[in-house]
Amino acid sequence: MLPADTVEQIYAAASAQAPLSEPASVAAMYAGLYARARTEPGVTMAIAGDEDGPVGFAYGHDWHWSEATDPWSTQLRQRLGEDAAQQIAESFAVNLLAVLPAASGMGAGRRLLEALVDAATSDTAWLQTTDIDSPARQLYRRTGWRTLGRGPDAPNGKPGLVLIHVRKPRTGC
Ligand SMILES: CC(C)(COP(=O)(O)OP(=O)(O)OC[C@H]1O[C@@H](n2cnc3c(N)ncnc32)[C@H](O)[C@@H]1OP(=O)(O)O)[C@@H](O)C(=O)NCCC(=O)NCCS
Repeated sequence: MLPADTVEQIYAAASAQAPLSEPASVAAMYAGLYARARTEPGVTMAIAGDEDGPVGFAYGHDWHWSEATDPWSTQLRQRLGEDAAQQIAESFAVNLLAVLPAASGMGAGRRLLEALVDAATSDTAWLQTTDIDSPARQLYRRTGWRTLGRGPDAPNGKPGLVLIHVRKPRTGC
């Protein structure tokens, strides 16, 4: 697991770029959430790096509605509606994905996301992303994610887009 300040630095650099253009306070907020999450059971992280150190990461955690009682999760369930909420009842939540601008466009983001989904104990994964035409949206489209519904507001103040991914059954022995 990466230290929280590294997560903050990578996400801040990645999200400052257009089209996200997020202020550094968003990266600080996500790093705070990560600092708490990284000590909890069921958390998984994938890291990409080069000789100079980490250049990207993705992390997420096992998701059970019975444990998701905070206000954000309650609003997520309300906005999704029960049918959609049941599709992610026992699943894996992808929390954050970022690659440094200097290392982007070379496949690291795709590898990180696929490694995280492959490592998950559940075949079903979900995430919330900002509903704009971003490189992340393009990545999700290309790797088999589909729209599940709307969630709590994203950093741009608009309802986030909730996507779901169902892993194909593994074959062979
Ligand atoms: C999304 C992100 C992780 C992609 O990382 P990356 O290493 O550049 O991605 P990859 O090189 O693996 O490219 C994966 C796909 O993303 C898309 N993509 C990457 N860069 C893109 C760009 N500049 N414009 C449009 N699409 C782009 C492409 O569709 C690509 O698929 P392809 O290889 O089949 O063409 C990176 O852009 C990032 O950190 N963005 C800011 C943070 C963010 O939005 N995180 C996700 C929400 S939490």
